[in-house]
Amino acid sequence: MTADPAQKDLSKTAYDHLWMHFTRMSSYENSPVPTIVKGKGTYVWDDKGKKYLDGLAGLFVVQAGHGREELAEAAAKQAKELAFFPVWSYAHPKAIELAERLANYAPGDLNKVFFSTGGGEAVETAWKLAKQYFKLTGKPTKHKVISRAVAYHGTPQGALSITGLPGLKAPFEPLVPGTHKAPNTNIYRAPAFLERDGVIDPEAYGRWAADEIEVAILNEGADTVAAVFVEPVQNAGGCFPPPPGYFARLREICDRHDVLLVSDEVICAFGRLGTMFGADKFGYQPDMITCAKGMTSGYSPIGATIISDRLAEPFYKGDNTFLHGYTFGGHPVSSAVALANLDIFEREGLNQHVLDNEANFLGTLDKLRDLPIVGDVRGNGFFYGIELVKDKVTKESFNDDEVERVLYGFLSKALYDNGLYCRADDRGDPVIQLAPPLISDQSTFDEIEQILRVSLTDAWAKI
Ligand SMILES: Cc1ncc(COP(=O)(O)O)c(C=O)c1O
Repeated sequence: MTADPAQKDLSKTAYDHLWMHFTRMSSYENSPVPTIVKGKGTYVWDDKGKKYLDGLAGLFVVQAGHGREELAEAAAKQAKELAFFPVWSYAHPKAIELAERLANYAPGDLNKVFFSTGGGEAVETAWKLAKQYFKLTGKPTKHKVISRAVAYHGTPQGALSITGLPGLKAPFEPLVPGTHKAPNTNIYRAPAFLERDGVIDPEAYGRWAADEIEVAILNEGADTVAAVFVEPVQNAGGCFPPPPGYFARLREICDRHDVLLVSDEVICAFGRLGTMFGADKFGYQPDMITCAKGMTSGYSPIGATIISDRLAEPFYKGDNTFLHGYTFGGHPVSSAVALANLDIFEREGLNQHVLDNEANFLGTLDKLRDLPIVGDVRGNGFFYGIELVKDKVTKESFNDDEVERVLYGFLSKALYDNGLYCRADDRGDPVIQLAPPLISDQSTFDEIEQILRVSLTDAWAKI
């Protein structure tokens, strides 16, 4: 059944036919589906002409901002020249050029690029590669993965198994066996036994959190563990940056047990933290980086797993083959768009802009700490989480009923009605997540702060 969209109520058609992702569809039975039709810079517009500040860069994606004609033109030019060819035993110039460019940006000997179409596939690729690497190098029992509580790594069954959110996994169990969880770096909720005179020392906390990963490796048996998957700054749970010394210690632990360190940078790469890769921001050397989202600023989909020469070596010998691939991996149009997007990064100094402004962004959000509902403000670069609490002193969180009533029933809608697209998330403790386009400046930060102030004040009154 088709009809002219211009003649129809888009919202009703969306409800009838568009199954939205991670969406409670019944909530749209009697209320309109928000429908975004246009974007420019840091703003988007809905089908009624209302303007919103894009406080989440779509979904941690639109780094260079909306409405960049040169990215649309790069896509059109490539589609006219060579719209599609796979990278299965053949190559095409844009995938070659992009692979070389990513290898040049990536730290150390991360020189081999395996393309996919998104982040979850990049994570799948990294795990499969780790397993086969150890089979090829005489350690066939090393296949398990350690990752961190509450971390999100994607929806394919392997990536979902690595994910540390039991509620997201439960409907699909049994998932891929062999994944185990260790604590994350949520220092706001550090265990009380780490306190000394009521204070948590960040370095001691970092040592503990890294050592907990070693405990997980040892509990599983180091000869069974292939890799540790961690984000530079963990998103789910609301932006947990690494404590000082954390990654240096984690690198040592991985080396000690011959376990690969995979930096899942699906969010943190491409300027989100002010560097091409999150590993650069915190000065560690991963064995693989997974990335996607911001590589094209969302103008076309692509993902990549960037692999060290050391890991690639056995695959480049004799008849060994990595039996893995995606039809659309390294798509010519997406590769061309990624290159054009990276040109914008270079020309406009987007990474430096984030580094120059991250303190101002955090400082502006920190003003919200005077509100009774704001427990913590944390993050890095242009990537922040604001944790909401019922009691600032005890850090008591909201119960399920309050989350349902206040977070879903009121706050998400209030933020949107007040002109801010962002995310109220309760996959860990309730948080507001913010990650605007990297072109944002002080006026963006102020607008975010003002809308949050009004909406959070109203939410507090509803508890
Ligand atoms: C850290 C991380 N890994 C993997 C993924 C999955 O990426 P995608 O949705 O592109 O499959 C995400 C998505 O947000 C992510 O944040």
